Amino acid sequence: MKIKYFIINGAKKAAFGSLICFAALCAWGVPSAHALVTAKAPDLAKKKATYVGLDTCVTCHEKQGREFKLSAHARISPAKAEDGVQGCEACHGPGSLHVDAGGGKGVAIINPRKDPSTCFACHMEKKMEFRLPYHHPVLEGKMSCADCHELHGPDAKPSATSMEGVNELCFKCHKDQQGPFVFEHPALREGCTTCHKVHGSMAEKMLQSRTFNLCLKCHTQANFPMINRTNHSTSSTSSNMIRGVACWGCHTKPHGSNFDKALEY
Ligand code: HEC
Ligand code: HEC
Ligand code: HEC
Ligand code: HEC
Ligand code: HEC
Ligand code: HEC
Ligand code: HEC
Ligand code: HEC
Repeated sequence: MKIKYFIINGAKKAAFGSLICFAALCAWGVPSAHALVTAKAPDLAKKKATYVGLDTCVTCHEKQGREFKLSAHARISPAKAEDGVQGCEACHGPGSLHVDAGGGKGVAIINPRKDPSTCFACHMEKKMEFRLPYHHPVLEGKMSCADCHELHGPDAKPSATSMEGVNELCFKCHKDQQGPFVFEHPALREGCTTCHKVHGSMAEKMLQSRTFNLCLKCHTQANFPMINRTNHSTSSTSSNMIRGVACWGCHTKPHGSNFDKALEY
């Protein structure tokens, strides 16, 4: 399949990276994008909405057009995809009926805040992540990709700028973990993602792992079961550790404590 590319923001480096990226997508991404759009938006399909192109959208949505130029997704937009999926319509679906109607909220257009199906057309593996046993309730419709990602702007990915950026994002909804605590756990400076998956996980509480390894990746020392100055093989600790009590079965406040330096033993 031959596809021409254009780079909306003109960055050559980005063009190179994106080409590789998009080549992979051609195989499985874009064709199914169309399939999914039509499946999920029977209205648009039945009434035969077609793709009109970004230039038409931005005549009315000037602000989104301006922001979108800087985004990761603008860099992967093909000049002419076989089935017309490109630019705004990769995420919003074919827009001809919306345009003919003069636009409007809920008028023949997909808003991914409510319907992430277009995202999954390309990010198939994310759908799998949200189906893992412990996950953020996006597929249940209780929250949205857009709660955590700014798709029009330059930083679609929360960690693109800084680790604090990710923590701030999580604190928007998880205030209990924010503190301030009298005794902070410095691990949080490395970001919530050192211990938690962000979309979904096999492990309860969306942890990266529920074994000692979660903590031992930082608290490891040659004379284990010594951890710092505490011998973890004394009678009070070892029998419990052997029985498989997780580190946080004893250190019950892994985010910080107002009560005990050893994080609330
Ligand atoms: C003729 C002007 C016009 C054109 C062209 C147009 N729109 Fe709209 N669109 C609107 C108006 C007006 C609204 C309602 C805005 C509001 O109420 O805040 C809207 C709303 C939207 C929404 C929000 C829908 C919702 O239910 O929340 C999206 C997404 C959208 N447009 C995308 C697009 C895309 C993509 C294109 C190009 C295919 C496009 N628009 C072309 C006028 C237009
Ligand atoms: C990578 C996917 C993606 C692309 C490409 C995209 N959008 Fe969006 N758009 C979204 C998401 C997600 C939302 C919901 C944002 C929210 O509610 O915070 C949205 C919301 C909107 C809205 C509703 C108002 C608003 O800002 O929340 C309009 C209008 C809109 N987009 C227009 C456009 C236009 C015009 C383009 C092309 C220049 C475009 N979008 C490209 C994902 C995308
Ligand atoms: C047409 C296919 C396509 C669609 C539709 C699409 N994406 Fe993407 N997305 C990509 C590709 C390819 C990349 C990698 C871009 C890069 O690295 O420059 C990407 C990158 C991302 C990133 C990481 C950006 C970064 O800064 O590293 C996020 C987050 C993302 N997409 C979320 C979404 C969400 C949410 C939606 C739906 C609203 C969506 N995408 C729709 C193809 C797509
Ligand atoms: C609770 C917040 C949250 C929600 C909801 C969310 N994401 Fe993410 N996503 C993140 C964070 C944080 C990262 C960065 C992870 C990192 O850098 O370790 C990320 C990274 C990504 C990436 C970049 C690739 C990667 O895995 O590093 C893609 C693509 C993506 N998300 C797509 C999506 C899609 C699609 C949805 C909705 C179906 C979604 N995300 C919903 C927080 C979220
Ligand atoms: C927009 C709000 C929102 C944001 C932002 C958000 N979350 Fe969540 N989080 C939720 C909701 C809603 C649940 C599901 C709670 C439930 O099912 O009771 C949840 C659940 C969780 C859980 C599992 C809790 C449990 O009791 O099982 C963890 C861990 C978590 N989120 C971590 C994070 C991390 C890390 C981030 C930042 C990358 C983040 N969240 C960003 C809303 C959010
Ligand atoms: C050092 C590892 C670590 C870091 C870093 C971390 N967490 Fe946790 N988190 C845990 C553990 C361990 C649990 C408890 C699991 C359990 O009890 O089953 C947990 C539980 C949670 C829960 C569920 C709360 C509850 O009462 O059940 C939420 C929400 C959460 N974390 C959010 C966050 C957020 C937001 C951040 C970043 C500010 C973060 N975590 C950073 C290890 C960590
Ligand atoms: C990203 C690295 C990192 C991870 C992962 C991590 N920690 Fe820590 N932790 C630290 C650092 C750094 C300190 C402060 C220096 C020290 O006491 O070793 C600390 C301090 C502590 C303390 C307080 C020690 C004291 O007396 O001051 C306890 C208890 C602790 N961590 C338990 C845990 C548990 C339980 C986990 C797993 C849920 C964990 N840590 C995961 C980096 C980490
Ligand atoms: C059965 C309970 C128990 C388990 C399980 C446990 N600990 Fe401890 N830990 C303790 C006790 C008790 C102390 C001493 C507290 C004090 O000094 O106040 C301690 C102290 C610590 C300290 C501070 C050491 C110091 O001397 O400053 C760290 C760090 C620590 N544990 C990490 C871990 C990690 C990592 C794991 C998992 C591999 C773990 N602990 C599992 C009970 C436990």
